[in-house]
Parts: sequence; structure tokens; C-alpha cells
Amino acid sequence: MTQVLILLGAPGAGKGTQAARLCAARSLAHISTGDLFRENLKKETPLGKRAKGFMDAGQLVPDDLVLEMLFDRVAKPDCQRGYLLDGFPRTIPQAEALEKRLGKPARVTVLSLVVPEQVLIDRLTGRRTCKACNHIQHMLFSPPKVAGRCDKCGGELVQRSDDSLEVVKKRLDVYRAQTQPLEGFYSSRKLLLEIDGNRPEEQVFRDLERRAFGGEAA
Ligand code: AP5
Ligand code: MG
Ligand code: ZN
Repeated sequence: MTQVLILLGAPGAGKGTQAARLCAARSLAHISTGDLFRENLKKETPLGKRAKGFMDAGQLVPDDLVLEMLFDRVAKPDCQRGYLLDGFPRTIPQAEALEKRLGKPARVTVLSLVVPEQVLIDRLTGRRTCKACNHIQHMLFSPPKVAGRCDKCGGELVQRSDDSLEVVKKRLDVYRAQTQPLEGFYSSRKLLLEIDGNRPEEQVFRDLERRAFGGEAA
């Protein structure tokens, strides 16, 4: 049975940080729709060009573009055993499309990272991401050992173009209006597990792993 983990949470809640750890620990494919769009942007594909304006403005990319890209990705062989969705679904129509596509035989767990708004703003405006391997760091909360260089691979750490204070505020508004309703969607299906994401990274990770997998060995 395919295991599907859905990581919900506001921008800056720690989805990407925790997804990388969970996927490494549990051999799941890490599917981040934000990362997929950024790869398309870098390669200047037609999809990347269409997504760019929305991302720069802090808006969501239209559902049809997201769904096509996502369903192509999860059809790949590395998703057969299971995968973790980071940043998807983000609207009720996306969640409905996923539900329809998965059907009954999937085992779905929804983990929601809860973090207060001011903490989200501090995290996003200080975030740095590795250009080479996508590893996520923070200027204050996980400062690089060598200034400007990724702790994992030594690659260049850069700031995401949508992490300016102005765009961050817009993204948080969009989150509240369009994505937060998913908590009700999944809680009415008895699939929602809420996790306090405002704790040290390691503690959040242990809690997520315990809630998602119980005592199951990795
Ligand atoms: P996306 O890339 O998904 O961005 P997001 O949802 O805004 O989330 P972030 O990546 O900003 O935050 P995160 O939760 O991953 O936090 P992170 O772990 O990095 O989407 C970007 C754009 O693409 C969207 O705006 C939209 O336009 C488009 N898009 C993507 N998916 C879409 C979809 N499904 N539909 C429509 N459009 C879509 O952590 C943040 C910082 O905090 C880091 O610096 C990290 O080091 C630090 N940190 C993490 N955990 C901790 C901790 N426990 N303590 C202290 N610091 C911590
Ligand atoms: Mg992310
Ligand atoms: Zn790196």
C-alpha cells in the first residue's frame, strides 16, 4: 500500500526542513511543489515562466498547473512505495483532486505544523537555501559554519526571491485565506494531526516521526 504523508503548515512553518529529515529517515520521496516550480524557473521551462509571476507576487499558482505537474511527479517509480507532500495541497480543489486520484488503497497521514505568525516572519526573512543541494539554513537559527556556505555540501547559500518582508506578508495572507481551510477538510476526515512546530528542529522531528509512524521501525 502506498503511504502518503502530507505536511501542512504556513510559509516558514518548517515543512521543507522536516520533510528532508523524514524522507531521509523513512526512505520516502520528497515532493515539494515549490521546489518543482523553482527547478522549472531555473531551467526556464514554459511551466516555470507561467509560475514565476504568481510566485514573485506571493500568490498561488493556478490549480490546473499545479495538479498536472504534481500528478506527473508522483507517477514516477520512486513514489511507488510512498511519498511526502510538502506544500501540496494548498487549496480545497487541490485536496479534492488528490483524494480522487489516490482512491481507497492509499494510507494517508496529514501532519500540520503550527507556528505563531511573528516566528514565521523571523524564520522566512532570515532563511538561506543552498543553490546546489537545496539544504535549508537560517542566519540566526541554524547559522552556516562557514559564512555564506552550505553546511551539507559547501554550495552557495542564497536568499529566496519571495522571502522579502513584503512578499512574506502577502504569502501569509494567501495562506490564511486559501490554505488554512484544509485543516477543517482533513480534520472532518479524521486525518489531521497537529504538531507544535515552534520548538527546536530536533524535537519537532522526533514528534513528527512518532505521530506519523508510531513505534514502527524505520
Ligand atoms: P513553497 O516553496 O512551498 O513555500 P511556502 O509554503 O511558502 O513554504 P516555505 O518553503 O517558505 O516554508 P517551509 O515551511 O518549507 O519552511 P522551511 O523548512 O524552509 O511555495 C513557494 C511558492 O510556490 C508559493 O508561494 C506559490 O506561489 C507556489 N506554490 C507552491 N506549491 C503550490 C501549490 N500547491 N499550489 C499553488 N501554488 C504553489 O523553514 C523556514 C526557515 O525556518 C528556515 O530558515 C529554517 O532553517 C528555519 N527553521 C525551520 N524549522 C525551525 C525550527 N524548528 N526552529 C528554528 N528555525 C527553524
Ligand atoms: Mg519549503
Ligand atoms: Zn548544499
